[in-house]
Amino acid sequence: MQVLVTGAAGFLGSHLTDRLLAEGHTVLGVDNLSTGDAENLAHLANEPRFRFELRDICLPFDPGQSTTSSTLLPRPVRPSIFAWPSRPSAWAP
Ligand SMILES: NC(=O)c1ccc[n+]([C@@H]2O[C@H](COP(=O)([O-])OP(=O)(O)OC[C@H]3O[C@@H](n4cnc5c(N)ncnc54)[C@H](O)[C@@H]3O)[C@@H](O)[C@H]2O)c1
Repeated sequence: MQVLVTGAAGFLGSHLTDRLLAEGHTVLGVDNLSTGDAENLAHLANEPRFRFELRDICLPFDPGQSTTSSTLLPRPVRPSIFAWPSRPSAWAP
């Protein structure tokens, strides 16, 4: 399955990503790094089934028209996993 993980650089999102990859899925991780840390995904730098997009998930985007290679995640991508900011201060616009 191809899975979109929002908040992929966060605590929950990075562990979800690891789990999904371990189960054989292909993952597009999206994060604006507002509270997350790209270091949480650094170990996936050479993982061919993982791709990271630095962007705000509140803004529309087409996962099939990404700024990096789209060959790993042709449309449609099923947005089935969501991670949210854990700190209320991060919820403010
Ligand atoms: N070592 C630990 O035990 C540990 C470490 C960190 C967090 N925690 C706890 O884990 C719980 C859950 O943490 P979490 O993973 O939900 O929080 P998180 O802040 O780690 O993850 C949320 C992610 O969503 C991203 N994000 C927020 N708004 C976004 C947007 N509009 N577009 C794209 N990305 C966006 C953030 O940058 C972040 O990476 C909390 O209770 C936290 O305190 C535990």
